[in-house]
Amino acid sequence: MKGRNTILAAIALIVGAGVAQAGPSSQVAWTVETVKLVKSGDPEKGKQLSAMCANCHGAEGVGMAPNMPSLAGQQADYTYKQLADYKTGSRANPIMSSFVAQFSDQDMADIAAYYASMPLPASGQGATGDAAAAKTLVRRGDGKRLIPACAACHAEPDFRNHHGAPKLEGQHASYFVDTMKAYGNGSRANDVYSVMRNIAKVLTDEELKNLAAYYANPGN
Ligand code: HEC
Ligand code: HEC
Repeated sequence: MKGRNTILAAIALIVGAGVAQAGPSSQVAWTVETVKLVKSGDPEKGKQLSAMCANCHGAEGVGMAPNMPSLAGQQADYTYKQLADYKTGSRANPIMSSFVAQFSDQDMADIAAYYASMPLPASGQGATGDAAAAKTLVRRGDGKRLIPACAACHAEPDFRNHHGAPKLEGQHASYFVDTMKAYGNGSRANDVYSVMRNIAKVLTDEELKNLAAYYANPGN
């Protein structure tokens, strides 16, 4: 009987795990092939493909409205992953999914290389928070709430070591807050290991506004 119970318990565990985990958060795995693909991106080809993106993301890669993300200066691995996630549906957005449907993996690498070749925006629009008040969270996090320092992953340029952790400097504050809220309520769930969902769901609206202001005006 004991053996049978153990087997039943094991089955219950497997079934339970299947329900809790609806699927992987992203189909992009940083294999050697994917890293090589992103490195092979051709900015010139990316420039041609991205003409249709300029209405919203700007000819200089700066979002045309505060709720449209700036792409200029972004790391190519991050941009590539987002485009691939929109294509597979790991990140849901009807506008973006319809745009990327036509692209091959190489096209997405080319587009990512093009935006990475532009300078980061000097500042982002839509900030209403207190940038100085966000510094402790950025540099130290909050141990009581298990929030790591943002800078551990989104650090100063050239000290980034996480595949997929984007640059945040100069991002529009409205988009920043929107996407953090989407992580917080799970409607954006393409962050591997829930790194951002776990953080965003415990931050207050006030903290989100302050963090958005800090990154929108990186000189502060
Ligand atoms: C009609 C406006 C519009 C057009 C045109 C458009 N986008 Fe977007 N894009 C958006 C919006 C809005 C978002 C934010 C969506 C979300 O929250 O997931 C977005 C998100 C993105 C992101 C994710 C940015 C980030 O910081 O995570 C990338 C990358 C991107 N777009 C690239 C492109 C490319 C490349 C094209 C052209 C092939 C394009 N977009 C065309 C509106 C647009
Ligand atoms: C353990 C590493 C890690 C830490 C710590 C971390 N992030 Fe992230 N963050 C990531 C990764 C990885 C992504 C990209 C996930 C994906 O693909 O959606 C990301 C994405 C984001 C985005 C989305 C950017 C965009 O353009 O859409 C924002 C905003 C963000 N993080 C803000 C923060 C803030 C604010 C903090 C501190 C309170 C923080 N992060 C802490 C790893 C981290």
